[in-house]
Amino acid sequence: VIAVARRQRSVHTDLPGRKNGREVPFGSNSLQHGTAVFEGIRCYCPALGQAEPRLAAQGRAAFRLDAHITRLLESARLIGIDHAYCHGQIRARILKAARASAIANSYLRPVLFTPQQYLGVDLRSLTFELAVEVWPAPVAAQRYPAGIRVTISPWRRPARTSFPVRAKATGSYVVSAVARTCASAAGFDDAIQLDPESGRVAEATIANVFLVSGGRLRTPWLEDSLLAGITRDTVMVLAREMGIDTAEGPIEVADLLDADEVFLAGTASELIPVTAIDDRIYGPRRPVFAALAGTFRDIVSRRRPEHAEWLTPIESQS
Ligand SMILES: Cc1ncc(COP(=O)(O)O)c(C=O)c1O
Repeated sequence: VIAVARRQRSVHTDLPGRKNGREVPFGSNSLQHGTAVFEGIRCYCPALGQAEPRLAAQGRAAFRLDAHITRLLESARLIGIDHAYCHGQIRARILKAARASAIANSYLRPVLFTPQQYLGVDLRSLTFELAVEVWPAPVAAQRYPAGIRVTISPWRRPARTSFPVRAKATGSYVVSAVARTCASAAGFDDAIQLDPESGRVAEATIANVFLVSGGRLRTPWLEDSLLAGITRDTVMVLAREMGIDTAEGPIEVADLLDADEVFLAGTASELIPVTAIDDRIYGPRRPVFAALAGTFRDIVSRRRPEHAEWLTPIESQS
């Protein structure tokens, strides 16, 4: 469940003042110690693959751009990263990079990092800069039409008392990498990780988890160790609008195994059905997932007028 195919190159990097627009010193504290915060934002081109000129004219749009920028700023604050950017400046830089990349469906990756060469772990003296990289990103549903098989990882999320788990920091992705690598080696597509203290379901390696039981939609609450995903929020908003009984709460592994439907939700993953968790196989009937995934796709494709505020046009903004 990755945003970009392996070996695919990013198509544009906005990293002002650096050689070739790309080079960062090897001694950079962000590289040496994972001290950077970042976001992943999808940019959709509704016209792609459609024969409707009216939609083509509407061009590309970034999905929930402002929510992502707010989370980036919050991640920096939580980690203690000092920088000089306000919301509007970050927004302008992301849109500029997206425009310059000139690709239809992309994944925008703003990163607040330090180029400073320093091997300590006190971040107070370091200067952090914004870079934005743009990657091609095919629609995830096209890459995983049949859904995915996952395992329950032996590797749990970091404790909420070890790390500010609401922060999207580069260093903390080693936790996801270990779990995903281990799952892939065992033949699974992804892993579900548990909260280290409660032992309850937390999230997948780069996506949040949902289950459907008796027509009711449930997702782990933020009391456990998980990222407050923007797609997670999107799914809950849409579900409530669609009249689906929706709740955040404590979720045990047994709840997942007992569920009628399980799916993942994240920016890179979008909405992807889980076909099996270890040897528990789910049936192909997923009415709640199908309804939610259809509405989500209609909104990002602008086939429905609702939630236009979630789509920031790339071309006409400065
Ligand atoms: C660990 C983790 N959980 C959840 C998510 C889903 O978050 P979002 O929907 O904001 O992309 C991501 C993706 O960024 C993630 O890396």
